[in-house]
Amino acid sequence: MTHLRTILIAGFALAGSIAYAEVEATDPDVIARQTLMKEMGGAAKAMGDMASGKTAFDAAAAATAKATLIDHAGQIAAKFEKNPTDPGSEAKPEVWSNWDDFMKDAKALEAAATGLDTTSAESIGAGMPGIGGACKACHTEYRM
Ligand code: HEC
Repeated sequence: MTHLRTILIAGFALAGSIAYAEVEATDPDVIARQTLMKEMGGAAKAMGDMASGKTAFDAAAAATAKATLIDHAGQIAAKFEKNPTDPGSEAKPEVWSNWDDFMKDAKALEAAATGLDTTSAESIGAGMPGIGGACKACHTEYRM
């Protein structure tokens, strides 16, 4: 059980890790959406660390991280609406050609985050694969 949880959390950490980017983005809209993603990564990491026992469980911090994920998932539409040319962006053109499907992935993350029970490290651990899976599903299709 502990072993399984470790694997799931390790997999999640991979999904949320910051990808190697050759060029830094310069367009303010691209920087804003990358910042949105980074903040989601920070919130997810904070919860993953509590679930794995790397950091002590903190109910208030967990609730804040959950709220950040829900809030930021809800901002994906607005933050990705524009498609400026920026070699620093890792978004695939399919974001805009398959917009409805991209939005479905955003809604799936919002739903997973909304359903997350942050009352204990155990319950966070139980919900993390769903969150990590939602991040990964979108990245696989829409991120270079
Ligand atoms: C609806 C699709 C979608 C979902 C859901 C999603 N992402 Fe992303 N993410 C992207 C796209 C597209 C990019 C590339 C953005 C760019 O470079 O323009 C990205 C980039 C990132 C980056 C790199 C940001 C940077 O500095 O360049 C991180 C970190 C990240 N996502 C973390 C997460 C985490 C953690 C989750 C889940 C909690 C998540 N993402 C959920 C689409 C998504």
